Amino acid sequence: MTTLAILTAAGSGARLGRDLPKALVGLGGIPLVLHAARRLAGSGVVDALVVTAPGGMRDVITHLLTADASVTIPVTVVDGGPTRQASVAAGLAAAGTSHEVVLVHDAARPLVPADLIRRVVGAVRAGHDAVVPGLPVTDTVKQVAPGEDAELVVGTPDRARLRAVQTPQGFTRELLERAHKAGQDRSGSEAVAATDDAGLVEALGEPVHIVRGDPAAAKITTERDLRIAALELED
Ligand code: CTP
Ligand code: MG
Repeated sequence: MTTLAILTAAGSGARLGRDLPKALVGLGGIPLVLHAARRLAGSGVVDALVVTAPGGMRDVITHLLTADASVTIPVTVVDGGPTRQASVAAGLAAAGTSHEVVLVHDAARPLVPADLIRRVVGAVRAGHDAVVPGLPVTDTVKQVAPGEDAELVVGTPDRARLRAVQTPQGFTRELLERAHKAGQDRSGSEAVAATDDAGLVEALGEPVHIVRGDPAAAKITTERDLRIAALELED
């Protein structure tokens, strides 16, 4: 069973607020997308990479990854779409049919440990068709509804049963393709787009399993996240 990873890097990084796309922002002098590609390639369980690039950045990203001695697996760079879901779909379209397992990983999680990547791929290979890494939630989470001058709390889910999920998320290619196709057919009628790929699988009624996540795979959204990741890199 071979594995292809779709590395999503086509976002603009509006919340980071730099004048270049988030995937190209440096962490310790190395762009986030290159950190993530090195970790996927170095895990030993990923055989090929498809990267979704922001508008006009295909050549830059192709050069960055193919010139790097640590990215030892074949890399294809495609244009991303207007949403993360559309970017993953573009990556899937370029993935071909020769890999049985597909990972979807965000360049916004540059310091994902190799162990975590291996845990996800191992669980898919062991027979779980959809696998996501998740961590226990430490904050109490409230569900809210709009209110007059302040939001109204409508519920407090049992924290012990909540997980904050990360990437890479792993799937059999067949299931991920089916989930994206169904997601595209629904789009327009769907009020809220899925924020992760597992959500599309859940919408099919197919099981999704959780493996242990890792705090080091944290997502970089703001400048503060970038500063924390820089500290982790120094350790
Ligand atoms: N992504 C993508 N295509 C899009 C939007 C997002 O490939 N149209 C990717 C991003 O590059 C990122 C991942 O999906 O690696 C998660 O998205 P997010 O953290 O929201 O990144 P951005 O969309 O770039 O950031 P922001 O929402 O602040 O603009
Ligand atoms: Mg975004």
